[in-house]
Amino acid sequence: MGSVNSSGEPRLVIASNRLPLSVKKTDGKYDVTPSSGGLVSALRGLKTAKFLWLGWPGLAVDPSHRDRVDEQLAKEHAAAVYLDEDLAKDHYNGFSNAILWPILHYQAGKSMTPTVWEAYRRVNEIFAESVSNEARDGDLIWVHDYHLFLLPQMLRDRLKAQGKRCPIGFFLHTPFPADDYWRGLPFEEDLLQGVLGSDVIGFHTDEYKKNFVASCDVLLGSVQVTNDHLRYKDRMIKTGRYIAGIDVGRFTRTLEDRKVQARIKELESLYKGKKVIIGVDRLDYTKGLTEKMEGYRIFLDEHPELRDKVILVQIAIPSREDVKEYQDLEGEVSKSVGQIIGKHATPHSTPLLYIHRSVSFEDLTALYAISDVCFLTSRRDGLNLVASEYVACQDRRHGVLVLSKFTGAASFLSHGSVLCNPSSAEGLSESLYQAITMDEEDRKNRHNALRDFVTTHSSEKWTKSFLDDLEKYRVQ
Ligand code: F6P
Repeated sequence: MGSVNSSGEPRLVIASNRLPLSVKKTDGKYDVTPSSGGLVSALRGLKTAKFLWLGWPGLAVDPSHRDRVDEQLAKEHAAAVYLDEDLAKDHYNGFSNAILWPILHYQAGKSMTPTVWEAYRRVNEIFAESVSNEARDGDLIWVHDYHLFLLPQMLRDRLKAQGKRCPIGFFLHTPFPADDYWRGLPFEEDLLQGVLGSDVIGFHTDEYKKNFVASCDVLLGSVQVTNDHLRYKDRMIKTGRYIAGIDVGRFTRTLEDRKVQARIKELESLYKGKKVIIGVDRLDYTKGLTEKMEGYRIFLDEHPELRDKVILVQIAIPSREDVKEYQDLEGEVSKSVGQIIGKHATPHSTPLLYIHRSVSFEDLTALYAISDVCFLTSRRDGLNLVASEYVACQDRRHGVLVLSKFTGAASFLSHGSVLCNPSSAEGLSESLYQAITMDEEDRKNRHNALRDFVTTHSSEKWTKSFLDDLEKYRVQ
């Protein structure tokens, strides 16, 4: 792992499973490129110049190439926590994505082999070793997400032994379920104890925070002292809701770009006379894509007069493709897409365009800008920043956001969006109809309300409010 900053000033040390950069291997050579995703978008507002981001590079890197990869990462304030292929697989797919992820999203739990729990522990230990060695006395440490639940306490122990005083923060980017659901997990107490090694613990919504505090109370006997503080053993821990957002300026600047303007014109003329509905989701069962397709199928069945006047452009970003549930889902979604097109396409038009890969940021902003509706139907979703991204691109069109009430975002954006419930296909169809037929005044009022929220709750504000709270734990 490369050392990045040699000056003595305190820094922010970030630890997350994934880095904001992807390392890819082509023809035996490793390339480093920027990556996307919820965590990366949310942290885009990081304004501190002195930070170091530690994470798994996403693949096993041959030791003889590590110096070169370290060099490239260091230019972006990042450093790799290298893991062997099998260990990374058992940690990421085996425990994090197959055991934790479903429970965090209220899906049926899975049974587990001891190997994957061992791998989860081991990877958290490897992170603890890397982060504690890298951290200097006085640095702030910010741990992210469910892959690293055990890390805060492991770090606390190591830093203490090394005589370093570093406030530790933890932010969860997924929902935290009700305590009876959480108790369905194996090692449910160890995981909570791990997180409670933090000084500040952040969540997207009040509900997730409340659920976490209840689980700690029931399983570990922690005491809630105030709405925002709990006592565990001899320490006071801050628990808070911090509203994550996006960098709106990045979208508005991109929309002004000449090439993007040309792309917008091109797409507008391609879809002339049609209402465009956009969906952008990782291909994950929590995102409710099968439910969305079913809702859209019913919408087209019920409104045959609209079938060549609407088009759903669904971007499904490939995700966790080694996990069986994700492979099955891909098959299911493709089948529904085929059925809808088969039934409703005509020789001159199709009501559905399905893109199973990522698109460039420029194409994405252009698509957001030309769309009349954004259709997000997650079964459960920690937040959902696509909702905010769409709003940021709608100053001209005042498009309507149809948003699942099971997203964290719904707790802030309910006033301007059309809330929907993905478990009712008829309900989804009605919400879509309401959005498509909404008059301009209503659309404009809703958009303005959403726009105000999205601009005032930026990614910059999110990082600042969390780090301000973490600073309070710095020992002078
Ligand atoms: O929602 C939690 C999260 O970790 C996001 O931060 C991330 O964008 C997404 O899940 C997908 O993560 P990954 O591709 O690393 O499995």
